[in-house]
Amino acid sequence: MARKKIALVGAGNIGATAAHLALIRGLGDVVLFDVVEGMPQGKALDLMEAGPIEPFNAAVSGTNDYADIAGADVCIVTAGLARKPGMSRDDLLATNAGIMTQVSEGIRENAPDALVIIVSNPLDAMVTLAHRVTGFSKAKVVGMAGVLDSARYRSFIAEELEVSVESVAAVVLGGHGDDMVPIRSSCTAGGAPVTDFIAEARLSEIEQRVRGAGGEVVALLKTGSAYYSPATAAIRMAEAYLSDKKEILPCAAYLEGEYGYSGFYLGVPAQIGAGGVEKILEYKLTADEASQLEVSAGHVRELVEALDKVLDS
Ligand code: LAC
Repeated sequence: MARKKIALVGAGNIGATAAHLALIRGLGDVVLFDVVEGMPQGKALDLMEAGPIEPFNAAVSGTNDYADIAGADVCIVTAGLARKPGMSRDDLLATNAGIMTQVSEGIRENAPDALVIIVSNPLDAMVTLAHRVTGFSKAKVVGMAGVLDSARYRSFIAEELEVSVESVAAVVLGGHGDDMVPIRSSCTAGGAPVTDFIAEARLSEIEQRVRGAGGEVVALLKTGSAYYSPATAAIRMAEAYLSDKKEILPCAAYLEGEYGYSGFYLGVPAQIGAGGVEKILEYKLTADEASQLEVSAGHVRELVEALDKVLDS
């Protein structure tokens, strides 16, 4: 059986961490692409030399040529600038839109059968753009954000309750911005509603921390944004696809009527299997959650309108 091929488009911190995880987890051969000359090659060489120690046998290479992603089963796109302290994800729109257009063309020409997982920010606009430019089906272009935002929610709840993160289930929906929507009504600890254990006021504080969690890391790092958790989240999505797990993961998926929205990407629970985004699940939200989702969806729509202006200019 031929090995699967995973292309990391963008070999910065998230791309390189995802490459390392893909190799350790035996997902397949890995190609690191970046426009910076020598950098993806150097990281690939370093990773290759970790092979005998781990051990892993998959091939890993670095390149500046899109032709080398040919035949990729999965492309994880992290190309673009990351935010610096004081910046919102939306501040990256104009710069990253140009980069994402080029990347999407490279993928369209060289890896037409790949599942494309977009990580670059502002996420909801970048995944919309990648879907348009590649022309791939909505099942094959998906955004990574919900897995990460939900993991942050789970981490903070587990920390509060001093229980295993594995005992906490939580989902964050909506756009990958400051008005993302932690779904309290489906948050559980040990299978029981989290509201049995944590007072509503404290839960609100924790949920506010979730909304700002990416920024909290940026403020500490000062030179870039989070990468271990985003890389892990993208690899989890790739694995669900490659192993046809049919796992329900919150992802930015293209909506056609689900949750009452159409024509753009938004974070929703999606089933990921061999078909890519195979299905979107519609949770019964509380009235408060639905109105929070409305605010978040409105923001995503504005972001896509801003994207259209950038592309027109
Ligand atoms: C974050 C970036 C990756 O949320 O969007 O950390």
